[in-house]
Amino acid sequence: MRYLTFALTKGRLASKTLELLEQIGITCEEMKDKNSRKLIFVNEELKLKFFLAKGPDVPTYVEYGAADIGVVGKDTIDEESRKLYEVLDLGFGKCRMCVCGPTSAKELLQHQERIRVATKYPKIAKDYFYNKKGQTVEIIKLNGSIELAPIVGLSDVIVDIVETGATLRENGLEVLEEVCPLSARVVVNRVSMQMESERITKILNALKEVL
Ligand code: PRP
Repeated sequence: MRYLTFALTKGRLASKTLELLEQIGITCEEMKDKNSRKLIFVNEELKLKFFLAKGPDVPTYVEYGAADIGVVGKDTIDEESRKLYEVLDLGFGKCRMCVCGPTSAKELLQHQERIRVATKYPKIAKDYFYNKKGQTVEIIKLNGSIELAPIVGLSDVIVDIVETGATLRENGLEVLEEVCPLSARVVVNRVSMQMESERITKILNALKEVL
């Protein structure tokens, strides 16, 4: 039997995913050792492999078949737009993709002005403004601490993830429009879905039962 390989998103999503896998009898003791620098972990008994990757790289590993299955945020799936199947909503890592800014920016959104939008998600932002709203905007790609942009005058608004809303509140910003709800999803390589359909379906069904 060949190994079935999982690509997990490093950090909180991976911990939550491992908890969930444990509930369906899939364990990987090696992976829990926080001090280990090892990148790939094996469950010999079940012929499974696991590795941790940066979120945006998970869809890449899955598209190319280096991983059969991935667990990654919906934001990353949409932004990366890789060829893969999104098969299951795990229901954790829940948050929202939103257009945010100071109250004063509300008007700019209503009047369809050519505003500047800072974001870590240029593709999602572009799709929202161009295709959903029909508003021409200038998109500025940033890599983090996006809330800074409207405060220092780099952009009028931002498109970013809002979870508790604390970051916005503490910086005098607010949600102006909601783009979409987000959560952790299971993605599957398109060929694996055919070739390993039985094993993958079994895992997906077990996950559905505990969710
Ligand atoms: C994310 C997101 C917001 C914040 C939202 O940033 O980009 O800044 O969390 O969470 P909240 O609504 O609970 O305050 P993250 O901490 O991942 O870091 P980054 O800003 O460097 O991307």
